[in-house]
Amino acid sequence: MQNFTSIKDAYNIQNLVNEALLMKKMPHSDKHLGKHKTIGLLFFNSSLRTRLSTQKAAQNLGLEVMVMNVGADSWQLEMNEGVIMNGDKAEHISEAAAVIGQYCDIVGVRSFPGLLDREEDYSEKVLNQFMKYTGKPIISLESATRHPLQSLTDLITIHEYKTVARPKVVLTWAPHVKALPQCVPNSFAEWMNHSDVDFTIAHPKGYELAPEFAGDANICYDPAEAFDGADFIYAKNWSSYQEYGKILSSDPAWMVTMDKMKRTNNAKFMHCLPVRRNVVVEDAVLDSEHSIVVQQAGNRVWAAQVVLKEMLLTQMRTESPYLF
Ligand code: CP
Repeated sequence: MQNFTSIKDAYNIQNLVNEALLMKKMPHSDKHLGKHKTIGLLFFNSSLRTRLSTQKAAQNLGLEVMVMNVGADSWQLEMNEGVIMNGDKAEHISEAAAVIGQYCDIVGVRSFPGLLDREEDYSEKVLNQFMKYTGKPIISLESATRHPLQSLTDLITIHEYKTVARPKVVLTWAPHVKALPQCVPNSFAEWMNHSDVDFTIAHPKGYELAPEFAGDANICYDPAEAFDGADFIYAKNWSSYQEYGKILSSDPAWMVTMDKMKRTNNAKFMHCLPVRRNVVVEDAVLDSEHSIVVQQAGNRVWAAQVVLKEMLLTQMRTESPYLF
């Protein structure tokens, strides 16, 4: 695995899931793989889980870890080419990324969309500029359109908790006070559409995901009906793709409640976190046996670790082909 920015970089997702679950039992079995190597984790936005789980995964593999909040800890970066840099951006991505590449063997980047210009966000400018100029493998820590480490985590968790061979998995839109990106639902849909699950996306009209992400998923416009017989309920808010970045609904009927959970096949409740209690999901669900959100967040370590291991192995094969 050269880079990890989407499901396209995962050669065999079932193998990744199986290996991640083995790692969970033996976290330090590859602790020499990253010896004398360094990963840089660059954050353009706040993070709790991605930051700490990727750091822990890297340390389990023996990697040295450097973390930087871009802009807050460093110069503001100019991402556009050919601009006259007489504004507030002191450094161009071409030098900054190339310099970071001098210090790191793998670089992780988290960027968020602006939610103002769909074309701009879906061009993945920040991620692509790092890929262009760093000269080192890039792992996405969430980008403008995808969150692949979260989605691999989600698949690992579904595999771990499923009680039927082909579970019914429901991604349900839920209300929120802020306009949020489509990265998590896009990515979750992309990974579920490549997995052996019965997959439904439930949302109010106007919240359709981009067709390349929704794929052939069942679509449901009723806030309760999709829960019928579900094995997993995955809640997430996102802003509209069609009316880009807008909040079109705040209907509390879309909040996940215990009443709706009663329609499921004793479903597990999942969310990528952070989650707003009693807006997205009521306390009664989060504090019940249904909820596996903490266990799900725990699995972020194994998703990151299996991906970093694959990237390190690819790097070693390139650097020392005679060893393989
Ligand atoms: N789920 C997730 O990516 O969490 P953080 O934003 O805290 O990293």
